[in-house]
Amino acid sequence: MGAELRLVYSPGQIAASVGTLARRIGQDYAGEEVVLVVVLKGALFFAADLARQIGLPLSMEFVKLKSYSGTSSTGTVVITKDLDGPIAGKHVLVVEDIVDTGLTLQFLLAHLNDQGARSVKVCTLLDKSGRRQVEVAPDYVGISCENRFLVGYGLDFDERYRELPAIYELIP
Ligand code: XMP
Ligand code: MG
Repeated sequence: MGAELRLVYSPGQIAASVGTLARRIGQDYAGEEVVLVVVLKGALFFAADLARQIGLPLSMEFVKLKSYSGTSSTGTVVITKDLDGPIAGKHVLVVEDIVDTGLTLQFLLAHLNDQGARSVKVCTLLDKSGRRQVEVAPDYVGISCENRFLVGYGLDFDERYRELPAIYELIP
């Protein structure tokens, strides 16, 4: 028997959340140029929708990270695709699909701050704040969610379900 999908956030709820985030970001960065650093692959759909609604001059960079949780609780994160261009002196906004333990984000923020960005903030569509293992707080959170495994709108299980327009809980 296959896994069951239970609807958690509809396309309308997602769109409303993206619209609210885009407006806030547009206001906060008014008159500035922003570099969106999109975390692949999960944030792809969110970033595409968000970027088109912010209404400011933007550039987009893409990074990819891999975390090995292993047996230790600290986990090890490596960058498998880095920025293509320099971010020194620029306002950077990291775009994430979901922040869970925070380990990935903590590593990425350190990496971006090392490169002399003028500012580094984080926008995540989903926040599982109850699962945090390190102190990282996204500046813009679309939806605070419980600890359940979500798929759709970019989120995958084994590379499946990213293309779904809504977000579902995956029940094995
Ligand atoms: P950490 O724990 O470093 O991890 O904050 C963030 C990354 O973990 C993945 N993740 C999920 N992926 N459904 C997914 O498809 C989920 O419910 C989920 N929770 C965490 C995701 O890759 C995220 O970038
Ligand atoms: Mg991700």
